[in-house]
Amino acid sequence: MRKLYLLMMLCLLSCKTEKAIIPTGLMAEKAMVVSAREEASKIGIEIMKQGGNAFDAMIATELALAVAYPYAGNIGGGGFMVYRKANGEIGSLDYREKAPLASTKNMFLDENGNVIAGKSTETALAVGIPGTIAGIFEVYQKFGTLPIETILKPVIELAEKGVVITKNQEKQFSHFRNELLKANGENSLVAKVYNENDTIQYLALAETLKKISKNGRDEFYKGETAQKLVDYLNQNGGIITMEDLAKYEAKWRTPITFKYKNLNIISMAPPSSGGICLGQIMKMIEPFDLNEFGHNSVETIQVITEAERRSYADRSYYLGDPDFVKVPVKSLLDKNYLQGRMSDFSLEKATKSAAVSRGNVSVYESDETTHYSIIDQFGNAVSVTTTLNGAFGSKLYCEELGFFLNNEMDDFSSKPGFANSYGLVGAEANSIAPEKRMLSSMTPTIVEKDGKLNMILGTPGGSTIITSVLQTILNVYEFEMSMQNAVNAPRFHHQWLPDEVIFEPNSFSSTLLNDLKQKGYIINQGNTPVIGKVDAILVLPDGRLEGGADRRGDDTAVGF
Ligand code: DON
Repeated sequence: MRKLYLLMMLCLLSCKTEKAIIPTGLMAEKAMVVSAREEASKIGIEIMKQGGNAFDAMIATELALAVAYPYAGNIGGGGFMVYRKANGEIGSLDYREKAPLASTKNMFLDENGNVIAGKSTETALAVGIPGTIAGIFEVYQKFGTLPIETILKPVIELAEKGVVITKNQEKQFSHFRNELLKANGENSLVAKVYNENDTIQYLALAETLKKISKNGRDEFYKGETAQKLVDYLNQNGGIITMEDLAKYEAKWRTPITFKYKNLNIISMAPPSSGGICLGQIMKMIEPFDLNEFGHNSVETIQVITEAERRSYADRSYYLGDPDFVKVPVKSLLDKNYLQGRMSDFSLEKATKSAAVSRGNVSVYESDETTHYSIIDQFGNAVSVTTTLNGAFGSKLYCEELGFFLNNEMDDFSSKPGFANSYGLVGAEANSIAPEKRMLSSMTPTIVEKDGKLNMILGTPGGSTIITSVLQTILNVYEFEMSMQNAVNAPRFHHQWLPDEVIFEPNSFSSTLLNDLKQKGYIINQGNTPVIGKVDAILVLPDGRLEGGADRRGDDTAVGF
């Protein structure tokens, strides 16, 4: 009798979570790539159709984004990859940029100790040592199957043939035209006026990629390309040397893993804050019945916001490059610690972010980064977020080599308590030091449900990355949305400081916002038109794949 009762309970529980989700995104049987650009998703798929695996496709997609999406796709930046092989083995690769040997803790401060505006974002000093080429070759060495020339071929062809400008890209180029002009002069390829349907050929980039295809990783870090890059940066006042490039290494890191109910979440470890913060927030909200509260209801928003507040406060103090500072990962993810953190939470009233009196002002720019998710016909899953940091990075475009340079140095804390581009404040743990990696929010994530591959996801969005990934997982798991609907659903964000909650405009009712205001939440609906651009894949119980390509951009799922 007791056994029967237990079985019924189990069935009831599983019935709740297994409610059939009706897919609304692109469906595929075997393999899929979801990225910011159709060209890149198609190239990733082409590689898999040729028999390549998800890692071969990762290399092709990463480079195709450098061609088709220069706003964020890059070879002059860096990123993180989280993977789960078909046999369940997991891992992650850190190809984050590093601070040059000649960098110093106070390099962005004036003689009075004040941060010099723009120095960490718009100058050659803003450039961290790029990691992308080291990253893709590291992936290739460990998991690649096709010849590297085969993988790079369609990318080089795309650069030569040219990329057709979309309406969104027209806006990107025109919005930043003055800055691109200022950084590169009027003869620069990237400072011209581009309209929708124009084609841009990236011939210099094609040449660089050909050399990399022929000579391998050393072309970028030790060869002619390295020398040209160093010369270019020097001419512009940069400090990256041949030694910096030669010393750069991508690093395999143990991913952050944690449980949320019957999910196992695999995400990025430091130097990204993504995995730890996602883990902290999910552990803090786990005891609450969000499904009962309802999607984007006052109570759900309160619970999530309060967990975010507490986690971002920890982020700011404790997190930095684990090669330089001891990050207390275990303690930060400890269940008892996190439950204690939420013990003063009340649905009646907002908690105040104590340090709001410091008066930090945040500027949420719609800067860019990009994420892509891949699953192959063998069942391997790859989740990658890659970035130049700002839109077109530092805006510095090396004409001869054909690519933009990042402005990732701004992700360091230039001065304790001083907010960076994303309004994030940091402390000693994220101060600048030679060869150190700047703290990131990038959260490439893979979700297992009952031990099986369930979701691959991630997003751009600076400090909002973590909270967008969180909401997307919850939308599928707690609120039973399809992958595409989960990605499309309106998002909100809180990050401890400043003490405000941001909401995507025109997506939340004034009644709801007023309710939150009455409870003491400060609402900001104006500054950020878009929160994240999530590109995700859901594995349905029958094994079919549903893509979630964010409606907020040109993002496209391609599959077979
Ligand atoms: O690593 C980071 O957290 C940032 N550099 C990411 C920048 C970003 O997502 C910009 N996109 N909107």
